[in-house]
Amino acid sequence: MSIRSKLIFFMLMLLAAISGIIALLFLHNEWASISANSQKKNLQILVAMSEVCREISDAPGKRYAYRYFKTFLKTPEIIQVSCRESSGRGLMEDVYYHPQPSPFLRRFKTFPPPPTGIWETRGENGVEILKASLKVWDAQKREILASVDFSTQLIYQEMDSSLRQSSSLFFAILSVAFALGCAGTLIITRVIANPIQTLGEAARMIGAGRLDHRIPVNSKDEIGLLAGQFNDMADRLKEFDEMKKDFMSSITHDLRSPVTGIELCADIIGKLAKKGDHGKIPEQVFCITEHSQRLNRYIDSLLEVSRIESGKMPLEIKAVNLEDLADRAVRAFKAYAEQKHLKLEFIVGQDIPDMRGDPERLYQVLANVIGNAVKFTNSGSISIFIEASPGWQKVRVCDTGIGIPRGETGNIFSKFYRINHGKQGYPSARQGTGLGLFIAKFIIEQHGGKIEVESGDKGSTFTLSFPVQ
Ligand SMILES: Nc1ncnc2c1ncn2[C@@H]1O[C@H](COP(=O)(O)OP(=O)(O)OP(=O)(O)O)[C@@H](O)[C@H]1O
Ligand SMILES: [Mg+2]
Repeated sequence: MSIRSKLIFFMLMLLAAISGIIALLFLHNEWASISANSQKKNLQILVAMSEVCREISDAPGKRYAYRYFKTFLKTPEIIQVSCRESSGRGLMEDVYYHPQPSPFLRRFKTFPPPPTGIWETRGENGVEILKASLKVWDAQKREILASVDFSTQLIYQEMDSSLRQSSSLFFAILSVAFALGCAGTLIITRVIANPIQTLGEAARMIGAGRLDHRIPVNSKDEIGLLAGQFNDMADRLKEFDEMKKDFMSSITHDLRSPVTGIELCADIIGKLAKKGDHGKIPEQVFCITEHSQRLNRYIDSLLEVSRIESGKMPLEIKAVNLEDLADRAVRAFKAYAEQKHLKLEFIVGQDIPDMRGDPERLYQVLANVIGNAVKFTNSGSISIFIEASPGWQKVRVCDTGIGIPRGETGNIFSKFYRINHGKQGYPSARQGTGLGLFIAKFIIEQHGGKIEVESGDKGSTFTLSFPVQ
């Protein structure tokens, strides 16, 4: 059963239940109010009747009292009216009139007179009667009993017809409300089920590999929010997919090129050995070592990234001196810089106190940034400054190298990102993994610090800032 059908089914059930309860409550209340009104009316008739009986007993002529007496019998549900003395003598029992004479008329005279009150009884022929009688006293303090017999059947008939009248209006209103409720149900189901269907369809398409598919966000409600989040998720999936493709193409090339180099060198060694030309073999062995080292560096970087991404790169925090670490990194690149005829200077203006950090990881960061500076500079100098300010220690690595195009400064910290500088004499984009700065940024941020870059046409400056605590 689809969500739409379930929603329609449950909402209609709910509507029917609510309408049923409202109808029952209405009928119950209406019946109670109609029967209360009827009782009130009967009581009023009885009281009026008792007044007439008193008049009849007091008035010498009694003639005018007959007229009143007769008017009671014009009320259809009244069968019989009588006024009697306490002795049982009828004052006016045989002079009454009914516009629609009932077959039961005159047949229920009760002697001795009934006690006062209202009660239901059954006539001799089985007709249901509502008897009402009241005691009153005339001017001579004689006791007179006024009584009225109502036809229970006619009373109920009248109550039924007034209930039917008010019910038909009520049910007309209830039907319109139910129809509106049904229309509302359909609209609500549409509003809820359609976006869910669209979401389901979009999830199916993305599952089938169509990562460009997006859901139009038409509202700012929860469903619009969900659609927006779904689109964000699809964006991330697409990003990951592209990253995976980049990674695969980069990894296949970067792993294959040193392996090809190793194969080539081994091939040459084999040929040299066959020819007996052993003098050139050490040169080829050195070449194999270099390619293997490159391969190892690449694999190490990949492992680092996988550790970062799985959150398994713990830091061994201890007291560390940035100046010592930077000095070590500068010395490591001294030979490389000399080989490229570059001036490599390390400037420390003040005493640099110890800070807390992981020495090996911080060395890795400094080695990558200083290594990059030497790698991407062909003439001029590389200057490394260290400075301490209250709360912060900063390392600045300035080079006079190729520089970084303005739009690229934000990208170089992404995984596998390398700029194809495309200038002669500089390393091509394929040399290096493009992971060094990604790893460096992660380590710096783990220490609570930040890395920033400024670059123009000539040279770049990387600033690494660390909080001292
Ligand atoms: N000082 C610099 N001058 C010019 N370009 C730089 C400099 N430092 C980094 N870059 C650019 O940023 C890219 C990313 O640097 P990153 O250190 O992440 O990778 P890599 O040096 O190419 O590889 P790896 O560090 O793994 O050897 C480099 O390929 C380079 O294009
Ligand atoms: Mg690097």
